[in-house]
Amino acid sequence: MSRKIGIVGSGLIGRSWAMLFANVGYQVVIYDIEPKQIESALADIEQQLKNLEKSGLLRGKLNSSQQFACIKGTNSLTEAVKDAVLVQECVPENLELKRKVWKNVDDVSGPNTIFSSSTSTFLPSLFSDHLKNKKNIVVSHPVNPPYYVPLVEIVPAPWTDPAVTKKTRAIMEEIGQTPVSLTKEVPGFVVNRLQYALLNETWNLVSDGVLDVKDIDKVMSDGLGMRYAFLGPLETTHLNAEGFVDYCKKYSNTIYSVSKDFKPLQKWEGPLVQEIAKQLENSVPLDKLQERRNWRDLALTKLSQLKKSI
Ligand SMILES: NC(=O)c1ccc[n+]([C@@H]2O[C@H](COP(=O)([O-])OP(=O)(O)OC[C@H]3O[C@@H](n4cnc5c(N)ncnc54)[C@H](O)[C@@H]3O)[C@@H](O)[C@H]2O)c1
Ligand SMILES: *[C@@H]1O[C@H](CO)[C@@H](O)[C@H](O)[C@H]1NC(C)=O
Ligand SMILES: *[C@@H]1O[C@H](CO)[C@@H](O)[C@H](O)[C@H]1NC(C)=O
Repeated sequence: MSRKIGIVGSGLIGRSWAMLFANVGYQVVIYDIEPKQIESALADIEQQLKNLEKSGLLRGKLNSSQQFACIKGTNSLTEAVKDAVLVQECVPENLELKRKVWKNVDDVSGPNTIFSSSTSTFLPSLFSDHLKNKKNIVVSHPVNPPYYVPLVEIVPAPWTDPAVTKKTRAIMEEIGQTPVSLTKEVPGFVVNRLQYALLNETWNLVSDGVLDVKDIDKVMSDGLGMRYAFLGPLETTHLNAEGFVDYCKKYSNTIYSVSKDFKPLQKWEGPLVQEIAKQLENSVPLDKLQERRNWRDLALTKLSQLKKSI
């Protein structure tokens, strides 16, 4: 069976996927429309793998040079995708572009290659209806940075062959990610539906003047988020009473009446945008975003080590 993976688009996410697939020895071939991007992707990946090795964070059983040897670049789309077990598409988030790229991939690949898109927002049916191998389409939506945040949402189109979603899930497990398989496509998938429910309420609380920006973020980072790094919201309820049935008995009225107090949906527009931005920029000025991102990635690294150790 083929051990080849084609990566289409070698930006931030394409690079992460290449490293993830190489960590268990897949033969990864990276294609990008910009030949320069491929060169810089390969150089960046080699450096990242070395750094990971040095800090003891390299995944898999192979050393960094062996993993890097699994990754090649090409200027030919055909060479990248032909006979691959899976093609991971990582081109910019633009629907017309995704439709075009998948058509090009479809034209040069056979019926046994999984078509896996990294899209964060587009339902797979929107960019696969015109493909001859449309039964092979699936979304594998990673969370940034995927090397430390293992979740992958696997989302089928209505015409996706269940064997394709099943095999994609197995490959994601094999490379050490944590797949969840949606039974059908829904807007926002699940990560963003949960994220938006939370954002929706933070907006309303700031709008109401209940808490300022710094304090509302603390509610997650020093409160709810502490648990959520290890337990989901449902298991949290299970542990917070004598099991879930007891939790519902005790709290269902409270949940219902508090939830009825939620404000109607607001658009993120108007003066509150500037107000929230001002407060955020007080703690993290725009020219310090990269520094703060590096700090975030370091924190996630340490958290993932902790999670592995318990
Ligand atoms: N960045 C994130 O946090 C994140 C998280 C999850 C999912 N995603 C999704 O991953 C995808 C890629 O995002 P990114 O952040 O890596 O983008 P990026 O801009 O860093 O990289 C995109 C790459 O695609 C290349 N490209 C453009 N047109 C192409 C074409 N026709 N054929 C081949 N390559 C082409 C570009 O040259 C570039 O190297 C998007 O769909 C995005 O929504 C991103
Ligand atoms: C990686 O492993 C290969 C094969 O065992 C070995 O030849 C090579 O020297 C190793 N490289 C490093 C940097 O350890
Ligand atoms: C978010 O918006 C929806 C849609 O109007 C609303 O029903 C809900 O109560 C809001 N709050 C949360 C936390 O979902």
